[in-house]
Amino acid sequence: MELQKIYNEDCLTTMSGMPDNFVEFIITSPPYDDLRNYKGYKFEFEKIAFELYRILKVGGVLIWVVGDKTENGSETGTSFKQALFFKEKVGFNIHDTMIYYKNNPMPTTGDRYHQHFEYMFALSKGSPQTFNAIKEDTKYRGMANMKNRGETGNLDYKKVERTSEKKIGNVFFYSIGGGISTKDKIAYQHPAIFPEQLVYDQIITWTNESDLVYDPFMGSGTTAKIASLTNRRWLGSEISKDYVAIAEQRLKENFAQKLFVNEFN
Ligand SMILES: C[S@@+](CC[C@H](N)C(=O)[O-])C[C@H]1O[C@@H](n2cnc3c(N)ncnc32)[C@H](O)[C@@H]1O
Repeated sequence: MELQKIYNEDCLTTMSGMPDNFVEFIITSPPYDDLRNYKGYKFEFEKIAFELYRILKVGGVLIWVVGDKTENGSETGTSFKQALFFKEKVGFNIHDTMIYYKNNPMPTTGDRYHQHFEYMFALSKGSPQTFNAIKEDTKYRGMANMKNRGETGNLDYKKVERTSEKKIGNVFFYSIGGGISTKDKIAYQHPAIFPEQLVYDQIITWTNESDLVYDPFMGSGTTAKIASLTNRRWLGSEISKDYVAIAEQRLKENFAQKLFVNEFN
């Protein structure tokens, strides 16, 4: 299969051309609950779920970013249903139910609190092969380790080595919107783009350089851009010709014209 390419077709068609155990990592946001009308395209969740599992390598991870629509007085629960389908029918582990927290969501009216988050399910095929944890400075004193124990077995606190970093929690906070999710103006012609930082954080966590990343719903090309930036190989599918054109133009502007500034180091 040709890599570094967005296939302008249904992702089921793209995946049918892939062998089993082909990609190390998948990150995507599906067109859930018809929340937005992506030019009327529907997607066949169950078939896609089985195909995603088949093409993912053992030890690979799928990041599935979803939320629920509210209709007839209730949230649909689609996110939960999909996560359980992945686990119970397809064979994925629900490795971690992470949260994509929007610092500045669209305000809502009515008798519910503002919708601040989407689920970010980390689904794995077996145990994840790669986990490069993002770290933050610890505010607390590190755990004392055994080698700091003296002959009596008591801790000699003067000798205790302290860790200065700990892995971050599984709620990821992002500000979103014009000029923030990305600086690429063209991307906003798509109605539902990922914040670039979200894709960056997940790619560096679950992959290493030159691993192969797939996004079955590529939209404006965020995954392609960040995979390129981080020296991962990638491929994607996007059913809309218009969105493929936007994504290709975005990649061209960033890489061919070398306008891209690496904001992630
Ligand atoms: C939530 S958007 C993805 C946005 C993307 N994460 C970004 O950063 O721009 C979902 C995309 O899936 C596309 N789509 C819908 N059904 C599809 C299918 N069966 N195969 C491939 N793409 C599809 C829609 O056109 C839409 O652009």
